[in-house]
Amino acid sequence: LASVKDVNEKIILNKNVVVIDVLRATSVIVTALANRARQIMPFESIEEAKEHYKANELLAILCGERSAKIVEGFHFGNSPLDFIEDNVSNKIIIQTTSNGTRTIKACEKGRRIYIAALINAKAIADQLIKDNMGTVIVCSGTNDQYSMDDAICAGMIVSLIENKVKISMNDLGWAVKEIYEHNKGDLYSFLAKTCSHFNLLKQNGFEEDLHYCLQTNIYDIVPVYHEGNIRIIDGK
Ligand code: MLT
Repeated sequence: LASVKDVNEKIILNKNVVVIDVLRATSVIVTALANRARQIMPFESIEEAKEHYKANELLAILCGERSAKIVEGFHFGNSPLDFIEDNVSNKIIIQTTSNGTRTIKACEKGRRIYIAALINAKAIADQLIKDNMGTVIVCSGTNDQYSMDDAICAGMIVSLIENKVKISMNDLGWAVKEIYEHNKGDLYSFLAKTCSHFNLLKQNGFEEDLHYCLQTNIYDIVPVYHEGNIRIIDGK
């Protein structure tokens, strides 16, 4: 288990990578693909995102946030509830967020890069069991700090794979598994107590997003990042 600031070529070389940003970038990605978006193109900067939008204007929509708020001139912010089929079906989603898209880019040298949130955690765990190989789970966090929403999701994935494959893991990985297992009955109250980004979103009126992102396993899909695009794996 690692945070974005631990990621370097050495730790991800020849490994699969799971990128997590439950609140809210990876929850948006999973939702958009489940609602038939053609692909997601993540970018670190607003400028790069706008440039790529210009080249794909007819098919694309521009999405993302800074400080949790929609970027001026974009079609959507970073609320997964906007990524319904009517808005995203067949579209290319051009996305830039403060932490999540930056983390995906930081991991692009990984062997295979999976995108995980609580809403597709079991699908990701099943994929890791199938792969049965070295994997780094990367928590996007907030401004280079661990964020409890991501830790909970990492803990859930570890909990789901623990008895299915032989794993040796760092202590932090075991710690997040324990935290998840002790709090899985009421993730909402636990994060309200422990997660600053959760509370920032709440203060900004995104209460519905919080309830949505804390649901588990509502989508059986495995999004994979490859050469600039995120798509669903093998028809799943
Ligand atoms: C991010 O990538 O920093 C987050 O997804 C921020 C947010 O909740 O909008």
